[in-house]
Amino acid sequence: MLELYELAHEARARAYAPYSGFRVGAALRGRDGQVFVGVNVENASFPVTICAERGALMSAVAAGVREFDSLAVVTDALEPAAPCGMCRQMLAEFGLDLPILGAGREGPTHLVRLRDLLPSAFTRSSFELRSLVMPAQGVAATDT
Ligand code: THU
Repeated sequence: MLELYELAHEARARAYAPYSGFRVGAALRGRDGQVFVGVNVENASFPVTICAERGALMSAVAAGVREFDSLAVVTDALEPAAPCGMCRQMLAEFGLDLPILGAGREGPTHLVRLRDLLPSAFTRSSFELRSLVMPAQGVAATDT
C-alpha cells in the first residue's frame, strides 16, 4: 500500500490544475498487480475537469483491467481528501470493497473502504429492483 502511495504522490506532481491550484494524484492497483496512475486535468470550461481517480480508472479499464485491489489518493491539503461523489460512483461500478488510502501533505493517514464512503450505492444490481419501484413494462402509466 505504501508503494501505491509513492506512485500517487509522484503522479500528483504532473497534475494539471491551473484554476484550483489543487493537485491530486491517484494510483489504482489491479488484482493482477498492474498499477494505473491518474491526475486531475482541469479545463477552462470548469465542469469538463476530470479528477485523478477517474483518470486512473479510465486507464485501467482501457488496458483491460476491471478488478481492483486498492487505490491511493494524494492531495496538496493538510488532511487527505476523500474521492468526490462522481468518482465514488464510478469506482463503485467495479466493486464496493475497494480499500482507499488517503494522503495529504503529511503522508497517508486514512484507510477506508469505498462502501463506507458510498452507502446504499446505486449499482448494476439496483436494476433488479426495477419491478418494485417502477411500473411493469408494457403497462401504460395511466393503468393502475
Ligand atoms: N479533484 C480530484 O482530482 N479528485 C477528487 O476526488 C476531488 C477533486 C480535483 C478536481 C479539481 O481539479 C480539483 O481537485 C479541485 O476540485
